[in-house]
Amino acid sequence: MIVSNELSIDNLVLTAEMLFELAVEIKEKLGMELEFINLGGGIGVAYKPEQTPVDYSILSQKIKEKYDSILIPNNLDKVKIFSENGRVITGPYDWLVSRVRHIKNTYKNYVGLDACMANLMRPALYGAYHHITILGKESLSNDYKYDITGSLCENNDKFAVDRMLPKIEVGDLVAIHDAGAHGYAMGFNYNGKLRSAELLLQEDGSIRKIRRAETIDDYLATQMEE
Ligand SMILES: Cc1ncc(COP(=O)(O)O)c(C=O)c1O
Repeated sequence: MIVSNELSIDNLVLTAEMLFELAVEIKEKLGMELEFINLGGGIGVAYKPEQTPVDYSILSQKIKEKYDSILIPNNLDKVKIFSENGRVITGPYDWLVSRVRHIKNTYKNYVGLDACMANLMRPALYGAYHHITILGKESLSNDYKYDITGSLCENNDKFAVDRMLPKIEVGDLVAIHDAGAHGYAMGFNYNGKLRSAELLLQEDGSIRKIRRAETIDDYLATQMEE
């Protein structure tokens, strides 16, 4: 994989171009017949509101142009094109929903959630941006600056630093966007944190529980008696 979390169509097409040219070189120099070219993953998620998601129809059209100009003239027109995207398939379609437990206004304005980096590690691990909405306050202006923190005793357990948001109160529900990749799957049980339930928002607007929350018995289930 040449790119990761890439939103530039030109850079994604460049990956295809490099691989197509490599395929021609392999055929010419080694005389090997190739069955497929795997472009890998790497298509990015538009985590920030000002970013634009990748338009698949433009991307596939541009990759086809490279296929037509590089592979077909070199008798590689039977080669199949595969990709193995991960993040973009699930990333934008999940929200981590957490409740505000504490507000602390010393030195900075801190909002403490019942979720933590064990539920979504990207912000703590790479300082990654995840957009945040305070449910029911979407139409209010973002006049307050907050650090949105998790419930672990770790300094980096923060979902956002110096984020402008509407006034937050204990009990508010906070939706952390684009948590469908590297969220639950990267979750862990540090400090005895239990994994959350998962709720599916269905096409008709109804909600179905598709995974129950972990219990302390689940946490201890692998412990052996002797
Ligand atoms: C071998 C391989 N293929 C595909 C992927 C998916 O990449 P992405 O989630 O960036 O699309 C990864 C991610 O680590 C990978 O290691």
